[in-house]
Parts: sequence; C-alpha cells; structure tokens
Amino acid sequence: MRMFTNNGLFLFLLTLAACNTGKKVDKEQVDQMKKSMEVKKVGEAEIISHALEWGDELSQEAQASLMQALQKAIADKGTVGAVEFCNVEALPLTQSVAEKHGVIIRRVSEKNRNPKNSLQDQEKPLFDAYAYNTEEGITNAPNIQKMDDGETLLFTKAIVIPGGLCLNCHGTAGEELAEDTYEKIKSLYPDDKATGYKVGDLRGMWSIHIPKKEVVKRM
Ligand code: HEC
Repeated sequence: MRMFTNNGLFLFLLTLAACNTGKKVDKEQVDQMKKSMEVKKVGEAEIISHALEWGDELSQEAQASLMQALQKAIADKGTVGAVEFCNVEALPLTQSVAEKHGVIIRRVSEKNRNPKNSLQDQEKPLFDAYAYNTEEGITNAPNIQKMDDGETLLFTKAIVIPGGLCLNCHGTAGEELAEDTYEKIKSLYPDDKATGYKVGDLRGMWSIHIPKKEVVKRM
C-alpha cells in the first residue's frame, strides 16, 4: 500500500464530513473516496514504474503456468503428445492468466510457430533491440512504454532458450528435435519457423498490454 502526501488532509476532511452529517462513514465509502483521490494524485511516472514491476510478475506467472503444463504433458504423453497439447492449450493458458488480471498477454516471435504469435507494429522494434542485444552479449532488461491509445502500456521481456528441454521442440530437426516430433509439428503448423535454436538464443518475447487503470487499481 502506498502513502500519499495529502493523507493528513484527506483524513481531516473525512472527519469533518462525518461530524457534519452525524452519520458513520462506512469503510466502502472511504475506500471509494480514497480510490478516486488516488486516481487523481498518482503521477504518470509512478504508474509506469509500477507497471514495469507488475508486468514482470505477470510474465512469470504465465511462464510458470505454461512450464507446469508442459512438463506434465511431456511426462504423461511424451514429446510428440506434448506438441499436440501445446497446440491446444498454450494460448488458452496464457489467456486465462491475462483475464484474471485484466491485461492481454502474448508470447511473440519473429520466427514463430503459431502465426497468431507474430510481431505486431509496436512490438517489432522492441524485438529487434532484444535480438541485437542478445547477439552482442548484452543482458536484456524488461521494457515498458506507452501505446498510441494513451490508455495502455506495453510491457515486453525477452524469452531466451534456458536449456535443453526447449530444444526437443525448437532445436535442429534430426538432432535434438527428433523426426517424429518434427513431423507432428509440421502437421499442426505448416508454416513453422521456430526450429534451429540453441541454448542462449532469443526465442521470443513476452508482450503484455496493461491498461493504466488496472495499474492504478493496484496502487
Ligand atoms: C513439446 C514441445 C515443446 C517444447 C518442449 C517447448 N515448446 Fe515452445 N512451442 C511449442 C508449440 C507447439 C508452440 C506453439 C503454441 C501455440 O500454438 O500457441 C510453441 C510456441 C512457443 C513460443 C511462442 C512463439 C511461437 O513460436 O509461436 C515460445 C516463445 C516458445 N514456444 C518458447 C519455448 C521455450 C522457451 C521452451 C523451453 C522452456 C519451449 N518453448 C519448449 C512446442 C514446444
């Protein structure tokens, strides 16, 4: 919870109001009033720095839910079966995390497997910057910026291949990526571009649209 410099004044006014009417001010009313004051008093810079932290948490939550499901699918059905599972479940899983928080969460990539995960206008230069950094060995920091509508912030964060597990489905065909897995991938994604990766490569990027009002609600 944050403190506001005008809190003293706020409480003073509240006490006055309560005395004048002789009525008890209930908690809901207080909360509502506080909220509307916060909306007015919270500065743009504070919203942005809060959104940067929150975006990071959201990407971690979505990542954890995907990883858990992926590991379970591989254990239950093997790699080929897990491809089918990702095909059906990857997008709904990220979407359910997103809906819970009132944001839009996507995993995007230039070399995407699912064309629904292609880069949109504002995402392209950010992805290029992450790709450049990765090439140059510069650590990628998460980024937050305003979107054109003025109401929404765009949080992005690089997704780097952390280990061999990913290469079972994103490695080089005939090597880490087994033939039967690759066939399954090709049958579900005829335009697949997401192979040939190595550990440490930039695989994609989290792209999270965060409405400013959702950020303010949490402050
Ligand atoms: C069992 C196979 C499998 C494994 C293992 C796997 N992926 Fe994928 N990956 C997929 C499939 C299938 C999709 C397409 C999902 C969809 O339709 O939205 C995908 C999509 C993605 C995307 C979204 C962009 C795109 O290409 O469409 C990213 C990013 C990604 N994977 C990263 C990873 C990372 C990082 C790992 C390792 C932690 C990993 N994947 C492991 C099968 C796999």
